Amino acid sequence: MTFDIHSTDPNSKARAGVIHTDHGDIQTPIFMPVGTAGSVKAVHQRELKEDIKAQIILGNTYHLYLRPGLDVLERAGGLHKFNGWDRPILTDSGGYQVYSLAGTGRKIKEEGVTFKSHIDGSIHHFTPERVMDIQRSIGADIIMAFDECTPYPCDYKYARESMEMTHRWLKRCCDHFDATEPKYGYSQTLFPIVQGSVYKDLRVKSAEVIASFDREGNAIGGLSVGEPAEMMYETTDIVTDILPKDKPRYLMGVGTPANILEGIGLGIDMFDCVMPTRNARNGMLFTTEGIINIKNEKWKDDYSPIDAGLDSYVSNFYTKAYLRHLVKAEEILGAMIASVHNLTFYLWLVGQAREHILAGTFRAWKDQMVVKLMQRL
Ligand code: GUN
Repeated sequence: MTFDIHSTDPNSKARAGVIHTDHGDIQTPIFMPVGTAGSVKAVHQRELKEDIKAQIILGNTYHLYLRPGLDVLERAGGLHKFNGWDRPILTDSGGYQVYSLAGTGRKIKEEGVTFKSHIDGSIHHFTPERVMDIQRSIGADIIMAFDECTPYPCDYKYARESMEMTHRWLKRCCDHFDATEPKYGYSQTLFPIVQGSVYKDLRVKSAEVIASFDREGNAIGGLSVGEPAEMMYETTDIVTDILPKDKPRYLMGVGTPANILEGIGLGIDMFDCVMPTRNARNGMLFTTEGIINIKNEKWKDDYSPIDAGLDSYVSNFYTKAYLRHLVKAEEILGAMIASVHNLTFYLWLVGQAREHILAGTFRAWKDQMVVKLMQRL
């Protein structure tokens, strides 16, 4: 993997670049749709490519390891072959899901984490080495280090000890990753993850340690876990001042359209979040004019397109009134249309941000867009 920066914004830390992988290029800044179990919920691969114009999608180690399991994925020839997505894939390490989904009965030790499957209650053990092996078997282009994502709030002592363990786990991840080979003939790269909760000194320390590993890209974790947005921005600002400028930076699990634009302004290149797909299924639509709750009575007789401001098939072809009916009636098509629309909007948003960075107009554009996009219609 390599990264070229094409342009930096004169009035913020935003950059526009390209990540080159063996499965193709990724224009940054980029949003990565979440395909937890090997599928972006309610969206098929041709829509992802042709309508949404996704350039990279996410998969989750935790889910794919539990189901369908590594034997199936290996026999398929890796996740790309299994799900028919031939562009780049990034897998998260399970460092987040082990805590959020397999909470009860979970035991965190220096060696690794023992947890109970959320599917059938069976007991499993993840170590940094095992998580590298699993991500070799899944075969994503970018894989994540095994970390502990601390909750918010989190006391200082816990945050420091957890961060230090994440750093020791990173050493084990790198040693094991570097001693093993990809399984499917294309290269993989490992991104470490900065932790340290919302404590400035811990974030500085973590960013310095993570930078010293000198990997091809770096991530920031432990944010968007319930802390105020201002705290997330301050923490991101501190960390991006330390992480190497010439490598991609990934802010994990973020966020709203405003969070993404602010993150770009702070020097972030990659984002992922379940928000556009999860909220779509509940009827929350992000549009070029603001946020719509499509279930509201207000849209009952509104026969205008979902979002005429977006150059996209579903957003122009279907009306608000029809989508309202589908979502209220819990029709599967409602989830499909809303998910394609929201993801198209997210990819449009980062594409616009990129254009404005290249034109040198990002800062002023961003400042008016964060207000416009978050208003409720
Ligand atoms: N997704 C969102 N936040 C995190 C984090 O801190 N660690 C990992 N591994 N994944 C995340």
